[in-house]
Amino acid sequence: MTATDKSFTFSLANENDSFSFATRIAPLIKAGDVIALWGDLGAGKTTLSRGLIRALLNEPEIDVQSPTFTLVQTYEGPYFPIWHYDMYRIEDDAEIDELGFEDTIDGLALIEWPIRMGEKLPKYRLDIQLEFTNEGRTATLSAHGEDWNARLANF
Ligand SMILES: Nc1ncnc2c1ncn2[C@@H]1O[C@H](COP(=O)(O)OP(=O)(O)OP(=O)(O)O)[C@@H](O)[C@H]1O
Ligand SMILES: [Mg+2]
Repeated sequence: MTATDKSFTFSLANENDSFSFATRIAPLIKAGDVIALWGDLGAGKTTLSRGLIRALLNEPEIDVQSPTFTLVQTYEGPYFPIWHYDMYRIEDDAEIDELGFEDTIDGLALIEWPIRMGEKLPKYRLDIQLEFTNEGRTATLSAHGEDWNARLANF
């Protein structure tokens, strides 16, 4: 993180708050973006991904399953494709290459368990960290790179 990287914290008291939060972030997203979702087991990464995907597709009821076993699930958005990854079961870099991660560059890469990507995790990205707080969650947005910093300026 550099001195100019912006970071903001939000309280998400329940699942509905997570969906509203996702709806606020969605309009900022552009083709080529990488969003990394950090947090322990059950922290709410898939829930937030579900909210983002539903907002981007403008399909509030669409079924968004966790890609726990498939490792990646793709969606055809109106402007760009969405690649929803769960890297939890990844054991080495070669598996990331097999997933075709490089090919997602023209769409949105939404990544659960980004820590598993090590050096392969793109440097310019939006990080969303989720933590357990009482019954709900705390979300911290951190911009990496000038473009995300500019977009978060008025969030
Ligand atoms: N803001 C929130 N407040 C309270 N509960 C929440 C919130 N967001 C999600 N949850 C609940 O937490 C549980 C786990 O959510 P979810 O599957 O999204 O976590 P995850 O981080 O994707 O887990 P995993 O590490 O297994 O992928 C679900 O029951 C979900 O409803
Ligand atoms: Mg998950």
